[in-house]
Amino acid sequence: MRRFSIVVAGGGSTFTPGIILMLLDNLDKLPIRKIKFYDNDADRQAIIAGACEIIIKERAPEIEFYATTDPKEAFTDVDFVMAHIRVGKYAMRELDEKIPLKYDVVGQETCGPGGIAYGMRSIGGVIEILDYMEKYSPDAWMLNYSNPAAIVAEATRRLRPNSKILNICDMPIDIESRMAKILGLESRKELSVRYYGLNHFGWWTDVRDKDGNDLMPRIKEHVSKYGYVVTDGSAQHSDASWDDAFAKAKDVFAMDPETLPNTYLKYYLFPDYVVKHSNKEYTRANEVMDGREKFVFGECKKIIENNSTEGCAMGIDEHASYIVDLARAIAYNTKERMLLIVENNGAISNFDPTAMVEIPCLVGSNGPEPLVMGKIPQFQKGLMEEQVSVEKLVVEAWIEKSYQKLWQALTLSKTVPSASVAKLILDDLIEVNKEYWPELN
Ligand code: NAD
Ligand code: G6P
Ligand code: MN
Repeated sequence: MRRFSIVVAGGGSTFTPGIILMLLDNLDKLPIRKIKFYDNDADRQAIIAGACEIIIKERAPEIEFYATTDPKEAFTDVDFVMAHIRVGKYAMRELDEKIPLKYDVVGQETCGPGGIAYGMRSIGGVIEILDYMEKYSPDAWMLNYSNPAAIVAEATRRLRPNSKILNICDMPIDIESRMAKILGLESRKELSVRYYGLNHFGWWTDVRDKDGNDLMPRIKEHVSKYGYVVTDGSAQHSDASWDDAFAKAKDVFAMDPETLPNTYLKYYLFPDYVVKHSNKEYTRANEVMDGREKFVFGECKKIIENNSTEGCAMGIDEHASYIVDLARAIAYNTKERMLLIVENNGAISNFDPTAMVEIPCLVGSNGPEPLVMGKIPQFQKGLMEEQVSVEKLVVEAWIEKSYQKLWQALTLSKTVPSASVAKLILDDLIEVNKEYWPELN
């Protein structure tokens, strides 16, 4: 049986150990001969890599493992690049969130001005990794979680249209797991869904079990009362701020009871509520640094100190399972139905064919075969046209180094009240992103 070689780009990510544990748990389904880590921060990566080396030695000593900051070493002889980089790390995420909040505008990792700022940093980083892959392993596939996925996907569509990159998101997966819990089902894999939208900006129109029974009414009844809050939620999205996002889905759902919404729509439909419930001095970035980052790095240091994983509290979650399923779909041509961010090309018939949309696809060795979602209603179409224009303008601004277009992008975002506020935020963002953004003219 063929065994695969994988490089994790952003080896120092807090999500890396979860992915390694997931890969090791599924070696019967996806056999592996080599795992490499690549990061541009050697010290950060060394802690995660030190622990993962011990994990791999304990569970699958036959797998070759090493971590590197050298692109040639990292990207030579690989079948899959699993990427989750964060250009500028949490320090810049904190600024993305806090600068808009200064002006009473949503401060969020991937939505509004913060997401735009992050996009301007990510485009170069993701393209660089894609180019390394194509240079050193031209047959490989890049499976990309790096955010903001909507902007990254539009950038790779524009700049590397023929590259083998698949952009993915775990939010619908978590919500579908919650739907399964609401229904009393074992797993989200028992569901078959129709869904359309942009990344972090979409709606379910149909949820069925494998026998074709319509499950929407029972889910809607729950969501109309509790949003997506379930008693036994995910390990990944378990902090109080996430609970609030799942609860707020109740109000988002009320806007259109025909569909079931993605949690992220709250930032666009209820920005005033979000700002009111934000702490301008302590945002999600602070929560993550004090929570997930401390936990993961703490556990990794313990593993290294003890030279053993005994008592280790790190586990695998749906986030990791999705990227492994995707690799399997490509490796074995499984034609699994998965949500991916792909070029619209008529799948949403009354929407820009060049937009990068999130829709179900059948995934096989040749990549994704998008499924037709048909015509969408005026409300969603209007929202999506505005948001996709923001995303396209950001990519144009990055390519053309255009201040004007970036100002237009910020102004067009539904989270920003006016062109003057957009300008104030933009000028602050430029100041702190000098090291990462192209110089705008
Ligand atoms: P993190 O900061 O812990 O990890 C990111 C790593 O990327 C760091 O070790 C950093 O040094 C490295 N890095 C930064 N720029 C790089 C570059 N140019 N080349 C190589 N490495 C680079 O962040 P995290 O919270 O673990 O998240 C990682 C990424 O995954 C983020 O982009 C996050 O938004 C994304 N994410 C996406 C989804 C999704 O649904 N698409 C879900 C979860 C996380
Ligand atoms: C969800 C989204 C990701 C996002 C993450 C943020 O999983 O799908 O795109 O990066 O949430 O989580 P965090 O815990 O870092 O705020
Ligand atoms: Mn996401």
